[in-house]
Amino acid sequence: MEAVILAAGKSTRMKSDTSKIFYKIAGKEVIFYIVNALDGYKTHIVTNKKNHETIKKIFPNCQAHIQELQKGTGDALKSALPFINEKSFVVVNGDTPLIKRADIEAAKVLFDSKDLDCVVLTATLDEPYGYGRIVRKNNKLEIVEEKDADEEIKKIKEINSGIYIFKTVFAKKAILNIINSNKSGEYYLTDIIKYTDKIETIEVDKENILGINTRKDLTKVRKILQQKIIDRFENVTFIDPDTTYINYDVEIGKDCIIFPNVSLRDKTKIGKNCIIDTGSVIENSIIKDNVHIKPYSVIEESCIDSNAQIGPFAHLRPFSEIGQEVKIGNFVEVKKSVLKKGTKASHLTYIGDAELGEDVNVGCGTITCNYDGYKKNKTIIGDRVFIGSDVQLVAPVEIEHDSLIAAGTTVTQHVEPYSLVLSRVPQVNKPGWVKRYREKMEALSKKEK
Ligand code: UD1
Ligand code: CA
Repeated sequence: MEAVILAAGKSTRMKSDTSKIFYKIAGKEVIFYIVNALDGYKTHIVTNKKNHETIKKIFPNCQAHIQELQKGTGDALKSALPFINEKSFVVVNGDTPLIKRADIEAAKVLFDSKDLDCVVLTATLDEPYGYGRIVRKNNKLEIVEEKDADEEIKKIKEINSGIYIFKTVFAKKAILNIINSNKSGEYYLTDIIKYTDKIETIEVDKENILGINTRKDLTKVRKILQQKIIDRFENVTFIDPDTTYINYDVEIGKDCIIFPNVSLRDKTKIGKNCIIDTGSVIENSIIKDNVHIKPYSVIEESCIDSNAQIGPFAHLRPFSEIGQEVKIGNFVEVKKSVLKKGTKASHLTYIGDAELGEDVNVGCGTITCNYDGYKKNKTIIGDRVFIGSDVQLVAPVEIEHDSLIAAGTTVTQHVEPYSLVLSRVPQVNKPGWVKRYREKMEALSKKEK
């Protein structure tokens, strides 16, 4: 079947410079969900001039047609009609991302069984405000928009979903008849149903047709869609799904536990048996099995191998590769670095542009000084190197395997294997100095008084 998505509107009620079809829900544009529901259909998208190129880029398999001026949904369909070749087609508003393919298919069965000109998908809403009402009078069907409705019509709870199946010859002819003599001064697509008696409605679940006109609607739809995405993971425990944000493309393995206020974004992939603790944000990253991400950690575009522990309050910036059994502790920042199996950086450390071998110990307060004001330089650390606390590694620099860097050292030169490295000013102790100093100062201040 062919499909037309109407997506050229001005999105006035969003009060935004961005068109509502591009607002993201769970990491995907509103319109993505519609195109996705119509997968396999020959899909046309009616777009305004501003969005035309973007639509073509995001949906190369769809045909994009420009509606020059935003004169209403009827005028929008008119822009796509010359390109429709099949006997019938479905029209979907571009702002209803919860639509179900099964509903469209059920409507198509009804359409075919009775040789109709049109089937309108409808729903019954407790609060129908804003939607076009289905008005039935003497076997005739009409759709009246909120703005044009009188008090009696406003009470009707059966609404137009904005999804229709049309016979192509009927639509092409009837569209020529519509005029814009209504409160909005727009050409309403809904007016074309006046021109046929061969029309029926099919009622669908009200949740499936929610339209996004305002930011409040967006929030409502987001809640529902997010819940549906979370429901996909039948073998994962979500402690509090209401505060958990899982993007559309995310994968999560068996027996993971996801704590409250976690955001898993983009194409993040999590293995089996992982714990993602409260408040963590993971973006476009791969996490293998049995990993524990402790509370409030931020992980961006990184890979974490099995049995690693990250956090609490750790920050892995893009292109960090964390090996098996690695431990990254509190307030540790890692950027564009490789840490091999069993390496530990447990507290307050910055590791940037570095390669750390296996079983390296990075002491508290260690810093790779990777930036010289012009470029980023590399730090290379061999297997089993022990770095004491408060060490600065001035890159570019290499420390070969099995060396020991004493606490407080500033490493500026190459270190050979098995070396002890110290760069400390010798310690000076002056016994009794403080006592003498205080006596002197107190005597002085008495004199001044
Ligand atoms: C429309 C229906 C209404 C229905 C509701 C369901 C009409 C006249 N009204 O109202 O009966 O209950 O959807 O959600 O159709 N668009 C264009 N070009 C335009 C105007 C709109 O492409 O010139 C697109 C919009 O981008 C949007 C869709 O058409 O995706 C619907 O437009 P919108 O303004 O949201 O219509 P509603 O007022 O919601
Ligand atoms: Ca709408």
